[in-house]
Amino acid sequence: MTYQFAAELAGRTIVITGGGRGIGREMATAAAAAKMKVAILELDQKNLDDTVALISKTGGDVTGYQVDLCDEAAVISTFAEVTKKFGKIEVLVNNAMFHDPSDLLDTSLDIWNQTLKVNLTAPFLCIRTLLPGMIKNGFGSIINVGTVNSKMMIGSDAYSASKAAVHALTRTVAVRYGPDGVRCNTLVPGTVATDAWQERIDRNPQIFEKLKTWYPLRRVGKPSDIAAAVLFLASDQSAWMTGTEFVVDGGLLAGYSPMYPLVEGSD
Ligand SMILES: NC(=O)c1ccc[n+]([C@@H]2O[C@H](COP(=O)([O-])OP(=O)(O)OC[C@H]3O[C@@H](n4cnc5c(N)ncnc54)[C@H](O)[C@@H]3O)[C@@H](O)[C@H]2O)c1
Repeated sequence: MTYQFAAELAGRTIVITGGGRGIGREMATAAAAAKMKVAILELDQKNLDDTVALISKTGGDVTGYQVDLCDEAAVISTFAEVTKKFGKIEVLVNNAMFHDPSDLLDTSLDIWNQTLKVNLTAPFLCIRTLLPGMIKNGFGSIINVGTVNSKMMIGSDAYSASKAAVHALTRTVAVRYGPDGVRCNTLVPGTVATDAWQERIDRNPQIFEKLKTWYPLRRVGKPSDIAAAVLFLASDQSAWMTGTEFVVDGGLLAGYSPMYPLVEGSD
């Protein structure tokens, strides 16, 4: 993917949670290529170090912070460190996630609580910690990473419920703090081929081939599809967008691709 970077991104600070691998790593790589100052907040020390090394090698301005985003005190002190190093923070991407594919009957309370903690409470903590600074500066773009699972039932029950709440959190932030110059949008990806799928691939190496028939564009997503949208939402190109669900899903939510030929009788 060749990115087109908006010039105003250069010099802005972006905080990306869960940037140690997958979509978050690609977001961090793209943001650094756009000459943004990048702070990655990540639980997994090794993946964090690898990502920082990868981006630093290309001359990117990146700093990694190992942190459990479910730990309130750690979130507060980490944002204080980031602010001390970079000055103001213009962009926050709540990207870290916990995913468990169980159906409701098989979901333990521990898994349910862990899902809500990583996917909902952590974004709340990050937003609550960062907002006062953004309000003071009269400027900020917060991007919450949601999912198509929040819009239709596609399994992963606890995960879907937690992400649907994130979509609501976006609207709250957008409406309440829009007058202060803070924008907040939900990015809504469809299936994206990342490490998060490895266990599923191990059980069925053809999983993406099977899934792609549901996608009108006939492929699953790449991390760069999502990173490009993040940089758009971070930039002034989206200056009049807030509270939206910005769908990047290869057309999945537009309709049931395998179904309409059956209905029409054109199968
Ligand atoms: N991959 C997909 O098919 C897909 C589809 C729709 C939405 N999404 C969303 O995109 C985002 C990225 O997905 P991905 O596939 O790259 O996931 P991933 O599992 O590869 O990456 C998530 C990262 O979050 C980190 N993390 C988890 N808990 C943490 C914690 N407590 N503190 C700090 N970091 C923590 C993990 O260590 C990991 O590096 C997620 O929000 C996910 O819900 C992904």
